[in-house]
Amino acid sequence: MGRSTPFYACQSCGAQSRQFFGRCPGCGSWNSLVEQSNPAADGRRRRAVPVPAVGDHSGPRARRSEPIQSVGERPLQRLSSGFPELDRVLGGGLVPGSLVLVGGDPGIGKSTLLLQSARALAADCSVLYVSAEESAQQVKLRWRRLQQPAEGGPGEEGLQLLAETDLELVLQELEALRPAVAIIDSIQALHDAELNSAPGSVSQVRECAAALQRLAKRQDMALLLVGHVTKEGMLAGPKVLEHLVDAVLTFEGDRFASHRLLRAVKNRFGATHELGVFEMRDRGLAEVTNPSELFLGGEGPCAGTATIVACEGTRPLLVDLQALVSTTSYASPRRTATGIGINRLHQILAVLEKHMGLPLSRFDCYLAVAGGLEVEEPAADLGVAAAVVASYRDLILPAGTVLVGELGLGGQIRSVAQLELRLQEAARLGFRRAVVPRSSGLAPVAAALGLELLEAGGVAEALVAALGVDPSAD
Ligand SMILES: Nc1ncnc2c1ncn2[C@@H]1O[C@H](COP(=O)(O)OP(=O)(O)OP(=O)(O)O)[C@@H](O)[C@H]1O
Ligand SMILES: [Mg+2]
Repeated sequence: MGRSTPFYACQSCGAQSRQFFGRCPGCGSWNSLVEQSNPAADGRRRRAVPVPAVGDHSGPRARRSEPIQSVGERPLQRLSSGFPELDRVLGGGLVPGSLVLVGGDPGIGKSTLLLQSARALAADCSVLYVSAEESAQQVKLRWRRLQQPAEGGPGEEGLQLLAETDLELVLQELEALRPAVAIIDSIQALHDAELNSAPGSVSQVRECAAALQRLAKRQDMALLLVGHVTKEGMLAGPKVLEHLVDAVLTFEGDRFASHRLLRAVKNRFGATHELGVFEMRDRGLAEVTNPSELFLGGEGPCAGTATIVACEGTRPLLVDLQALVSTTSYASPRRTATGIGINRLHQILAVLEKHMGLPLSRFDCYLAVAGGLEVEEPAADLGVAAAVVASYRDLILPAGTVLVGELGLGGQIRSVAQLELRLQEAARLGFRRAVVPRSSGLAPVAAALGLELLEAGGVAEALVAALGVDPSAD
């Protein structure tokens, strides 16, 4: 490709092509190719500084291999963000020299989360907050709003603020200040003047992130990058950005609800699928330490409601499911599911029809998870089945009952992971009966917790145990 030849770059995977394609030949995404110019300049590696290992300050030199036994070990010193929820999602705190990408929908509270964390971090170490999207005044206004009345100045002395979009100036400031933690809000708003493409384009995001990463590893500085999310909910910018960083966190939430969920989708220093729960208040984000209360309806007994214990990472969550089954007036019945995959609902309805003889194909079925939570794990199947059957038969599940189990296509109840943890959480919140898969081996645990354990091998047996009546009997 010549210097001035236009070319196309995929915004999803970073693949380049001279020809325009509606579908990226690299990753198969549709409409992701965007015209770029001057690939020679875009592809040039300007700051050719080799990336030393984390903690190595000896500068560029030829490196030799060494036996793994002789590699020195340093205990991981983690920095606390002041939010135990965020620390847990990070695997125990922020690791010096690591790169963390925080993605989320516009206005979800990414800047708020990081500015509040900056306050706690700045009490222990130096922090630089680079605002590439908002002016210093705007950040200061938010800082004031987030300040609790009881709080004094801590954090204020250790926190430096820079409102700048030029990558070169940001790098200079980082090199001069050598902060322990730097926050870049956002990586899409940074701009490398040496590249011709617009801020936010694939080459800009890639180059800016790579340059910041080289500096972060060299200075052993923890870097928190804010990333935008595209319409489809993917992190904007090339996929290489996700490969480059050590951890990818997503901040999500229902626009109409005040709670926000923070998840780790990738973490080189801890487990993924950990969940942090926050609530957006006028004075910023507050942690929700008992999220089960958020996802339990609390409206009292109601036909078609069932409680499950979902597990997000190592955290069990009690969640209410609601089903509404009503006679259809359509040729093909309507099925909608909020918070659970629609295919999963179809499958559960088919199992109930086949193995319990319920004529559900003549009924519309609506299913919703309380609190806007997304439940992906199959352990929710038995709860979905119970909610559907309870609504169909207009039955109320006895109070204090939880259901946990995966539904096989043959109508059998399969075992699920972390059952003991789930039972402990149910007991802690005052639940007294648990319907679980057969041979759980947890009878002694349940007895100690004061839970009545109802073990079932098949869906019919489980629902009879849960409802106290046979729902397939006319
Ligand atoms: N004065 C205020 N009082 C109460 N809540 C506010 C106030 N200002 C902002 N918020 C809350 O903060 C949210 C915006 O937070 P924030 O700016 O941190 O989001 P963001 O994810 O960084 O957004 P962007 O993608 O635009 O950078 C708003 O959606 C609102 O819920
Ligand atoms: Mg912001």
